[in-house]
Amino acid sequence: MAQADGSGQSTVLETSGRAIAPLSPAPSEDIQGDPPTAEGMHLSARPRRLRRTATLRRMVAETVLTPADLIYPLFVIDGVNETVPVAAMPNCERRTIDRLLAVATEVHRLGIPAIALFPALDPSLKDERGSEALKESGLIPRAIRALKAALPDLVLIADVALDPYTTHGHDGLVDDRGTILNDPTVAVLAEMARVLAAAGADVVAPSDMMDGRVGAIRAALDGAGFYETSIMAYSAKYASAYYGPFRDALGSAPQWGDKRTYQMDPANGREALREAQLDGAEGADWLMVKPALAYLDVVTRLRQETRLPVAAYNVSGEYAMVKAAAAQGWIDERAVVLETLLAMKRAGADSILTYHAMDAARWLQEA
Ligand code: PBG
Repeated sequence: MAQADGSGQSTVLETSGRAIAPLSPAPSEDIQGDPPTAEGMHLSARPRRLRRTATLRRMVAETVLTPADLIYPLFVIDGVNETVPVAAMPNCERRTIDRLLAVATEVHRLGIPAIALFPALDPSLKDERGSEALKESGLIPRAIRALKAALPDLVLIADVALDPYTTHGHDGLVDDRGTILNDPTVAVLAEMARVLAAAGADVVAPSDMMDGRVGAIRAALDGAGFYETSIMAYSAKYASAYYGPFRDALGSAPQWGDKRTYQMDPANGREALREAQLDGAEGADWLMVKPALAYLDVVTRLRQETRLPVAAYNVSGEYAMVKAAAAQGWIDERAVVLETLLAMKRAGADSILTYHAMDAARWLQEA
C-alpha cells in the first residue's frame, strides 16, 4: 500500500515522519502551505484548494441566502397604537394595524417580499364555529386593506384555518362527540378564503390540513373572479410540539384533545409526498413543509418530486429555542440564524417563513 514508487497510489502512510504542524491558528492563506516536495502526498484531489480564501469560497458556494427568500409572519390585534409582547418570542409582539403598517414598511424596505398575517382575536369574538373568520369587517380583512393601500407591492399571505377563531382552538368544525368534521369545515374555509381574497390578499394559505380544501378554495376563488389569488398549501404540516409559542401568541391552543387526526404524524415522510401530490392536483400554487428544521428531509423530498415552489416554515418553537439560548449567551445568534436559514434553502426551500426575517435581512445586507 504505502509505496512511493511514482504510481500515484500514495497513501497517508507516506507522511509518517513528517513534522506535524502545531495546533495554533494559522492564517487561512497558509492552510495549504505544504511544499510540493517528494515527501508530500500525491493526491488526485484536494477539495481544500477551493476553501483557501473567502473569495474562492464565495465563488463555489452552491447556495446563497437573500432577503428575497424570506417571508415574515406577523401577529395582529385590534385596537390603536398598541403592542403586546409574546413571552417566548422576543421581538414578535402582537400589533395593532397602525403599528403593523410601520413594521411592514420596514420589512418592505429590507427587501423581504412578503408577510404572513395571523390574528390574535379577543376571546369575546370566538365561538364554536369560528364565525368571525367569515366577516368582511374582521381584523385580518381590515389589516389587509390597510396594508394593500399603503404598500401595494408587498405580498400579503393570509392564513386559512379556524383555530384562531374557535373557542375550542381546533382548525375545523367539531361535532358533539369531538370529531373534527372534514367536509363541513372545507365549505367554511372556502368562504373564508374568498373573504380574504376580496380584502386584497395576494396569497391564501390553508393551514388546517382538511382533505380536499385546496380544490374547494380554488373553486370558490375562481367562482368569485379571484383567478389571480394564489394558494400556498400547508401540504405537509405535522402535529408538532414546536407550535407552542405561536399558540400562546394567538391564544389558540386546543382546549381538549390534540390535532393528530388532521395534522401529520412526525413518523411519516412518504405521506408528505402524497399530500403534496393531492394539493398540486387540486391547484395549489405553492407547497409548504412545516415545521422546517426537524423536517428538512421532507423539504428535500418535496423539492425533488414537484415542480411547484416549496416553502418551509421555521416555526415559533424553533425561534424560541434560538432566542433562549442566545439570551443566555450560549450561542452566537447571528451565526446560528444565518446557518439555519441557509440550511433550509440548501435542503430545497424556495421560500422560508421565519420570525428571524428582519434580523436576517439586516445581517445579509451588512455581510
Ligand atoms: C394554525 C397554525 C399554527 C401555526 C400556523 N398556523 C398552529 C397550529 O397548527 O396549532 C404554527 C406556526 C408557528 O408555530 O410558528 N392553523
